[in-house]
Amino acid sequence: MKTLFAYYSHEGNCRALAEAMAAAIPESGIEELARARYTRSIPKRGIMKYFCGGHEAMLKRMPKISPLTANPAAYDMIVVGWPVWFLQVAPPARTFMAGVDWSGKCAALFNMHRGGKGGSLREMARFIADRGGIVVGSDSFVDLRRGNGGKTKARAVEWAVECVEKARKLRSQTAGESAS
Ligand SMILES: Cc1cc2nc3c(=O)[nH]c(=O)nc-3n(C[C@H](O)[C@H](O)[C@H](O)COP(=O)(O)O)c2cc1C
Repeated sequence: MKTLFAYYSHEGNCRALAEAMAAAIPESGIEELARARYTRSIPKRGIMKYFCGGHEAMLKRMPKISPLTANPAAYDMIVVGWPVWFLQVAPPARTFMAGVDWSGKCAALFNMHRGGKGGSLREMARFIADRGGIVVGSDSFVDLRRGNGGKTKARAVEWAVECVEKARKLRSQTAGESAS
């Protein structure tokens, strides 16, 4: 089960989770979305980061992101992660999800937040399902700087393992059905 972890992270939380999850999953790859230019265009600190990033997210903008190093078509499953921005998907993750051919592909979605998670997991699960993808799981995790970061990371790894297992079972069921 080739699994790609694709994430956007502005302040390191989604990166930490995606790296921990990918390390626990065999045959996995990892792709950081919008590495340089986009990240630089949104301030790292202060109130301005909310104005710039939040405004883009609310308008559901899809900014240009850096060319991908991985080829999503080469993976059976893609786990996408993003920080919640003004209750929405952080824009680079939206650009990525809009560019993938989801037909027949398994997906799992996670986001990170500080208490206001909004409905972006549901929105993007529907978006992917409408394009023929099979969403095997979605979950929200609290910012590692809040609460017990170690526990959150461990729960995220467990979640990813469960999602990949679910996708593997679905795949082998489908393969069995088409062989009979
Ligand atoms: C522009 C912006 C908007 C945010 N909006 C929300 C929000 O609506 N709800 C929330 O709980 N956290 C919000 N946050 C906090 C982040 O979602 C949270 O800190 C997340 O863990 C950051 O992930 P990252 O470190 O991978 O960037 C926002 C942060 C930024 C920069």
